[in-house]
Amino acid sequence: METTNGNLAHICAQEAPKYYDIEIAETGETFRCSENESVLEGMRRLGKRGIPIGCRSGGCSVCKVKVLSGKFHQHRPMSTEYISKEELEDSCVLACCIKPDANIRVEVIGKMHKNVCKTAG
Ligand code: FES
Repeated sequence: METTNGNLAHICAQEAPKYYDIEIAETGETFRCSENESVLEGMRRLGKRGIPIGCRSGGCSVCKVKVLSGKFHQHRPMSTEYISKEELEDSCVLACCIKPDANIRVEVIGKMHKNVCKTAG
């Protein structure tokens, strides 16, 4: 007789990803972002038209944000051409290069500011 216990144990052993709330300081809007995706990927779910997604790999700086509060980690390198050491120390980062470790609050300072901070209507 064949059982599925092995498969079930495998499925149960997989933890569901944690989700965090990311707040856009300028608008007060929030979006959910999993620990496994970049803040930029989560930001796309705001569904705002005209958000330039750019390169998604730290090479264009359209997604520059300043993290005002919360925890995150960098999962891919950011060029010093776009984020200086001083900016990094001031929590300025590229949203495509960070993933949340907690709820975070960001100010959009890159070229996508105009589109992300556009109010409805
Ligand atoms: S999308 Fe190009 S640096 Fe983030």
